[in-house]
Amino acid sequence: MQAAVKPLRLVKDQPASELETLFQAHHGRVFRTAQRITGSAADAEDVLQTVFLRLVKGQDDYDWSKNPEAYLSRAAINASLDLLRSRTRAKAVSLDDSEVDEIAGSFRSPEAAHADRELQKLVREAVSRLGKTAGEIDEALAAGIFNFNCESEPELALIDALAHRRAVKARVALRVNPDVETDTHHYISTGKLAHKFGVDIAEAEVIYERARKHENLLLEGVSCHIGSLLLDDAPLMEAVDRVLALIERLRAKGFDIRHADLGGGLGVAYKPDEVTPSIEKFVAALKQRLEGRNLRAVLEPGRSIVAAAGVLLTKTLYRKKTGEKDFVIVDAAMNDLIRPALYSAYHDILPVRQNNNPRICADVVGPVCETGDFLARDREMPDAMPGDVLAISTAGAYGFAQASTYNSRRRAAEVMVEGDQWRVVRARESYEDLIRGETL
Ligand SMILES: Cc1ncc(COP(=O)(O)O)c(C=O)c1O
Repeated sequence: MQAAVKPLRLVKDQPASELETLFQAHHGRVFRTAQRITGSAADAEDVLQTVFLRLVKGQDDYDWSKNPEAYLSRAAINASLDLLRSRTRAKAVSLDDSEVDEIAGSFRSPEAAHADRELQKLVREAVSRLGKTAGEIDEALAAGIFNFNCESEPELALIDALAHRRAVKARVALRVNPDVETDTHHYISTGKLAHKFGVDIAEAEVIYERARKHENLLLEGVSCHIGSLLLDDAPLMEAVDRVLALIERLRAKGFDIRHADLGGGLGVAYKPDEVTPSIEKFVAALKQRLEGRNLRAVLEPGRSIVAAAGVLLTKTLYRKKTGEKDFVIVDAAMNDLIRPALYSAYHDILPVRQNNNPRICADVVGPVCETGDFLARDREMPDAMPGDVLAISTAGAYGFAQASTYNSRRRAAEVMVEGDQWRVVRARESYEDLIRGETL
């Protein structure tokens, strides 16, 4: 059950970071000297556990909602679209009171409401997934999906058959694999022929020709997505050029190609000194290439919209040293945020309460029985004492969405912070939730 929005009184005269204020407020606890934050006392038990905070704070300053090209969100982000909507309105900000208020105001503006409606419309527009089942395809047809991004010839045939059964025409775009090199982790690179995604761009024309026989398909698009977390947009532009060249060849053969889905993939800075591609420049380069082509572009930005808009808060449980090694043992684990364990990903870790603790070099580890259960390795950081809350930053993308209940761990609560308001947007799971649906 979702908690109602409750007022949060920001404490202005305390030298504490905003995160601490928010965290304390979530748990309805007394904050520092006699300053009581309004909040539910019933939440207090959560104080020993992790929580995902989604903040109105963004990575870049590009306003996707003003972009005439279409965009849509990837399902890989959390089910709630609230954050995405807010993000499309929000500029990159630090969370000081006046800026937060300004952004909160934009939630309620008519333009924001319009952007919401546009977004909802667009989100229904395409379905991308490698192994679509017949059931999923049929559901999408029943929902009147705008387009299917198809990954193989057998899938084209299946969509055709299901569309025939429903006596509808299904709009499809073949996902092509443009075979471009990307400098990203090999688990999230998708645009080389060795990867499972799409069809070889060199074979695409032949496949479109063969697909002419499918009477219930409208072959009106081409799609591609070459990978995630790209810190250089050159491979993206190379892929775009290859896709546009293919579209020209297809049009010359009489195919009425109307839209190009160019995927997502723009990187974000996980480390403070990392340089990310400028979204403004990326969109400008794209517009220049699309000029005069009478082609609708669809973009699928995921991480670049939401990554910086979330943090994972975790509480230090213990400190210990084994041999020369320092460990900070926290209550969040690989089931909450798997990116460090899965891709050796780096997330900045900040103490929520500023302190002058001596700096240490430590592994920040969770309670799960895997040596791979860590949030940071050999990390230079201020020492953390039991009870200290740490913020694992840039956890808004592929964070909660990849969370699991491994090791019988209940997934963390999610809290949305919106201006001076906060609310639980996903309740912490209960033990009953863990065994729901199981029978003996
Ligand atoms: C087809 C497709 N489009 C878009 C995305 C989003 O990528 P990113 O979050 O890197 O922008 C993904 C990520 O998995 C994807 O598979």
